[in-house]
Amino acid sequence: MTKSSLDGKVALVTGSGRGVGAVIARELARRGAAVAVNYRGSAAGAAAVVQDIEQAGGRAFAVQADATDQASVEAMIAEVTERLGPIDLLVLNATGFADVLRGPATKHSVEQLADSMVAQFKASMVPVYAALPSMTARRTGHVIYISDTFPRKVVHSGLGHALPKVPVEAAMKYLALELGPDNVRFNTVVCGAIRSAALERATSDPAVTQKVKEYIAQIPLGRVAEPEEIANAVAVLAGDDLSYLTGVFLPVAGGNLII
Ligand SMILES: NC(=O)c1ccc[n+]([C@@H]2O[C@H](COP(=O)([O-])OP(=O)(O)OC[C@H]3O[C@@H](n4cnc5c(N)ncnc54)[C@H](OP(=O)(O)O)[C@@H]3O)[C@@H](O)[C@H]2O)c1
Repeated sequence: MTKSSLDGKVALVTGSGRGVGAVIARELARRGAAVAVNYRGSAAGAAAVVQDIEQAGGRAFAVQADATDQASVEAMIAEVTERLGPIDLLVLNATGFADVLRGPATKHSVEQLADSMVAQFKASMVPVYAALPSMTARRTGHVIYISDTFPRKVVHSGLGHALPKVPVEAAMKYLALELGPDNVRFNTVVCGAIRSAALERATSDPAVTQKVKEYIAQIPLGRVAEPEEIANAVAVLAGDDLSYLTGVFLPVAGGNLII
């Protein structure tokens, strides 16, 4: 077993029945992790991800849960623990590009902005708080949050993307500090634009096409990320080679966020 292998690890990826989460789940499994593929509504997508993993010789199962709902998340964690073992790696991917409030800041009411922020905060923090007791008891655990460049890279019409990520990023910092002594680590992958169905829809909408094209043109690498490039970053971060990292924010943005 090489150090970068994920053999023997149990991973739960929230919202991995489609989109970037599905690619992350496949990549973690390809590197040897047993993977719980969480979905909210995408049952067929989750089943397809599990089938792909099993056909490639890996271990996975699909588990339905709304990540914002405590009872549903607690039941999911219990099921993952029973079927695969205690969770070593929790990837917070749920809530995505498709659900984001789009347009200029003043297009949205305060209520809409606050509701979106609370929903996305819960979709990350409910799974974290439910997974933590087992991680602290075992004195091992790793949480990886999938964030976005928009809190740091301010662009027109980006508030709906940025706002929900900010409180989760704050929590990742405080949890890294306070749970370090329990050997539970918290790291964040800060993604730039990723090739995705939602991005393709945006580029086919004449009202936003030009803005999106200009945005992509100014990315130093001149292109959006492939979802596999995000999944590789998560998988490398999850491996034992980088075991001394916690509280890290890793931009995977083609140079579009230089910190
Ligand atoms: N796409 C991009 O360009 C981009 C850029 C930067 C960062 N990101 C980040 O990357 C992550 C994935 O993005 P994406 O483009 O793949 O998003 P997406 O296509 O909108 O997919 C969102 C995923 O989250 C799940 N989800 C949403 N709410 C949920 C809930 N309450 N409980 C459980 N699952 C829930 C959905 O599950 P169901 O379908 O089962 O409901 C779906 O699998 C997100 O955190 C996003 O902010 C994306």
